[in-house]
Amino acid sequence: MKTTDKPVIFSGIQPSGELTLGNYIGALKNWVNLQEEYTCLFSLVDLHAITVRQNSKEFHKQCYDALAVYLAVGLDPEKNNIFLQSHVPAHSQLAWILNCYAYVGELNRMTQFKDKSGKNKDNINVGLFTYPVLMAADILLYQTKLVPVGADQKQHVEIARDIAIRFNNIYGDIFTVPEVYHPPLGARIMSLQEPTKKMSKSDDDAGATIFLLDSPDVIVKKLKRAVTDSEAEVVYDQKNKPGVSNLLTIMAAVSDRSVDDIVSEMQGQGYGKFKTAVADSLVEFLQPMQERYKKLRDDQAYLDSVLKTCAERVVKLGETTLKTVYITEER
Ligand code: TRP
Repeated sequence: MKTTDKPVIFSGIQPSGELTLGNYIGALKNWVNLQEEYTCLFSLVDLHAITVRQNSKEFHKQCYDALAVYLAVGLDPEKNNIFLQSHVPAHSQLAWILNCYAYVGELNRMTQFKDKSGKNKDNINVGLFTYPVLMAADILLYQTKLVPVGADQKQHVEIARDIAIRFNNIYGDIFTVPEVYHPPLGARIMSLQEPTKKMSKSDDDAGATIFLLDSPDVIVKKLKRAVTDSEAEVVYDQKNKPGVSNLLTIMAAVSDRSVDDIVSEMQGQGYGKFKTAVADSLVEFLQPMQERYKKLRDDQAYLDSVLKTCAERVVKLGETTLKTVYITEER
């Protein structure tokens, strides 16, 4: 089945909490580069976020904050479909059906479920368990070909593939079988405090994470404290120098330079100077983005109009698949 001529890309970020530099470099930055060549759907997956208890008022605000960030980093709502998952009922509708084609055994193997249920022992809700099925619905609803996600979400894309293949085997060629998209400039940003761990918006140590809306002072402070190693040489070596390598990746990404170029500039400079250079390039990149963000965030009417226009388009895109699913018969 096909919905449009360009291949479809779907990805999503949970709008709970503040978006981080990791979200930008690992996801948003690449999305901006995809918007010409693909039919892109970039969702704020609010239904996924409520598998962990949210404060409803705060969460509502955070959804708009995240939307304004999407727009401020350069996602164009004319070229892309930027929408709240809950505005498109077909996600929930398809998710229920796919629940009936997903096995408890395979969901039990999901590492994210194991992690999250370990961390939220007082709220191991059923939504947390079927989270990957809703994610499969997000993806399969639009005949998505490519799904740009980080390594931690690959297992979920695998399950979406398995469900699609299982369904197609029974009912014919209903779903496009999606694949993980590996961007040419894929970069995984690590915690500033434990550089072998992914940068996360929910890290207990606020110094481990750069938020996209951090002020210049905060950025300078966080970088000063960033963990490096006991040597003094700025060299890219992920295995032996994960802290320094992470800072190099960050600086290269925000200044659109190559790691090699930065390494040669930093030769003989020591970590103090290097960290200042990283902080400077971050501030230089973040400041104009934050100014755009402020303007957008103050314009509630505009944000609402983006959500409405995109949701209307997206509802149409998903309609065909859902209808086909409803009328399928065994082959
Ligand atoms: N689970 C993803 C994450 O936490 C977010 C997500 C939800 C997603 N639905 C998706 C990503 C569909 C890609 C495609 O990162």
